[in-house]
Amino acid sequence: MSQLIDNTPSTPGKQKPEKSHYLHNRLRIHSSLSKLTLLFSILLVFILFLFILSLPSTTAPSSSSSAVTHRRNLYDTWGGSDWEKRVTKSARRATASNRAVLVTGAAGFVGTHVSLALKRRGDGVIGLDNFNHYYDPNLKRARQKLLERAGVFVVEGDLNDGALLRKLFDVVPFTHVMHLAAQAGVRYAMQNPGSYVHSNIAGFVSLLEECKSANPQPAIVWASSSSVYGLNSKVPFSEKDRTDQPASLYAATKKAGEEIAHTYNHIYGLSITGLRFFTVYGPWGRPDMAYFFFAKDILKGKQISIFQDPDRGTVARDFTYIDDIVKGCLGALDTAKKSTGSGGKKKGPAQLRIFNLGNTSPVPVSELVTILEKLLKVKAKRKMVPMPRNGDVRFTHANISLAHRELGYRPTTDLETGLKKFVRWYLDFYPGSKKKSAW
Ligand SMILES: *[C@@H]1O[C@H](CO)[C@@H](O)[C@H](O)[C@H]1NC(C)=O
Repeated sequence: MSQLIDNTPSTPGKQKPEKSHYLHNRLRIHSSLSKLTLLFSILLVFILFLFILSLPSTTAPSSSSSAVTHRRNLYDTWGGSDWEKRVTKSARRATASNRAVLVTGAAGFVGTHVSLALKRRGDGVIGLDNFNHYYDPNLKRARQKLLERAGVFVVEGDLNDGALLRKLFDVVPFTHVMHLAAQAGVRYAMQNPGSYVHSNIAGFVSLLEECKSANPQPAIVWASSSSVYGLNSKVPFSEKDRTDQPASLYAATKKAGEEIAHTYNHIYGLSITGLRFFTVYGPWGRPDMAYFFFAKDILKGKQISIFQDPDRGTVARDFTYIDDIVKGCLGALDTAKKSTGSGGKKKGPAQLRIFNLGNTSPVPVSELVTILEKLLKVKAKRKMVPMPRNGDVRFTHANISLAHRELGYRPTTDLETGLKKFVRWYLDFYPGSKKKSAW
């Protein structure tokens, strides 16, 4: 940010008249100077003038020049007839399906599961992912392999690359966009705030810009977050509750996304459905989440820190199993009405929805650890620590009656059943993690 301020072109502009004025005065005072010196001085003024003129153009647009470098790198990863063939093949649908879905964040946790489910039922699916290094890229690559085996091609690229999005919409007339790409994590926002703005705000706008211009416009389903309920204390959280006191930048960018969605729905007639996910867990999950790194650390015999509310209240989460979330995502996709605009022009009002997708049974984090101990057959080294004020909220609990009514959403997996499936996957994916714990 400070760099942007330093580079504003106003400073060199101001210097220009001052410096030439100064030199001009000097020339008048030393009227006895020879013609040669005068010529030399004029030349000097001219050079100085050119130098000052060149300043704003080389220093001011530093942000856009870095974006150009970024884009050039990404150009290497897409395009060409072979690439187009793979896109077309992946978008091919079974005769029974009339859907072609672009899944963003396809190599992510939820994105992988949703892509597989869509492909399994015969929809055309194209994935998009930037494979960033927020967490172990090997896990993302392993998910990509899983998708490739199922016939889903994951395009490597960034949402902010408008040319790439345009190309994808040129090749495939998408009926739906399942937008799951995001910078996740609550605490990481204090280390890298720009990443949240880049993915969750700029990236979302870039995608919506492409969707609104597309002909036909796709219907959009996207991942918001239960974190938008922030510091609310009334439970269970209902879609009608206030969402104006976020506790983290992550939550604030998701809330911003909900408002941005409203705008694009209002102006361009895009059909948009937002889903507020509640602590999704399961096989192929994200290593930055507590259930995941608790399992890892318990197996290693490493001490784990369990957050405690400063007022000794319980810290609890409405853990929601991935298969239930996938059913909710597909339910949202299948009940999404068509967008009403075309080619950037609104033709009539369009659908705008928001749903909680939770499990409606919050579990204290200490109980999560007890279940993990049982499943891993290893005793955890627990350390209770007061919850720091760094973005986490104390309690989440979803009211899912709206999703039940409109999407037929009905979660069926309790935490123990879901964690059993997670642990089975974990021990299989990280062989050797169990043996080490025996030492
Ligand atoms: C859940 O939300 C619905 C509205 O969608 C409301 O009618 C109901 O009373 C809420 N339930 C609870 C337990 O707050």
